[in-house]
Amino acid sequence: MTDKNRLRIAVQKSGRLNEGSMKLLKAIGVKLSIRDRLLIAHSTNLPIDLLQVRDDDIPGLVMDGVVDLGFIGENELEEKALERAAAGKASDYDVLTKLDFGDCRLSIAVPKEMSYAGPQDLAGCNVATTYPYLLERFFKQQGVNATALMLTGSVEVAPRAGLAEAICDLVSTGATLEANGLVEVQEIFQSKAVLIQRKGDMPVAKQALIDKLMPRIAGVMQAKE
Ligand code: PRP
Ligand code: ZN
Ligand code: MG
Repeated sequence: MTDKNRLRIAVQKSGRLNEGSMKLLKAIGVKLSIRDRLLIAHSTNLPIDLLQVRDDDIPGLVMDGVVDLGFIGENELEEKALERAAAGKASDYDVLTKLDFGDCRLSIAVPKEMSYAGPQDLAGCNVATTYPYLLERFFKQQGVNATALMLTGSVEVAPRAGLAEAICDLVSTGATLEANGLVEVQEIFQSKAVLIQRKGDMPVAKQALIDKLMPRIAGVMQAKE
């Protein structure tokens, strides 16, 4: 159960943003009693509830005002904003701060043996991705007639499976591409983790808590510099 008077924060349940978000919460003094199988964790020392969800769900939860704050990658945020715009839905939120983790880039990668001189080489191709709106925007900007093929997972195996000629996915160390015989040829978006807040009225006590936590976040990031 969650209580509307407690600050609701959404974090990624597992994946690249989970560790950084949880470490940061701990560093700013938020004590949590985590139960692995539950979506919700309650803070034991502050009026905060943590919702552990898929990162893809976090922008929508904040934009629809279901949670107060969310730790999210700019890539997911931008993709969701484009998706909502296409559906005629608004995407209101405030970025409270950029964070010092979650760095990655969204890039197009092709099989080692395929030549790539520029975006035009993708004309007529299927490009598998979990970020079809960002990829389609790139195609449009470049004037390339290619198809963004939406896959929710295992994007990196699509070329070998004969589903697509190329992929567009997040790259951090490059190990996933390497392991799948793919080469990064074109970066289309750079991303970091950010902390976002929903728009709309915020109860005074909740806003006061946010205002108390923000300098702590700044302090933790500064101490690491
Ligand atoms: C991304 C991407 C690759 C991997 C690349 O997945 O989809 O699988 O990271 O990282 P690397 O260059 O260090 O190998 P992510 O961890 O974000 O999880 P998700 O795809 O389940 O959201
Ligand atoms: Zn994801
Ligand atoms: Mg992945």
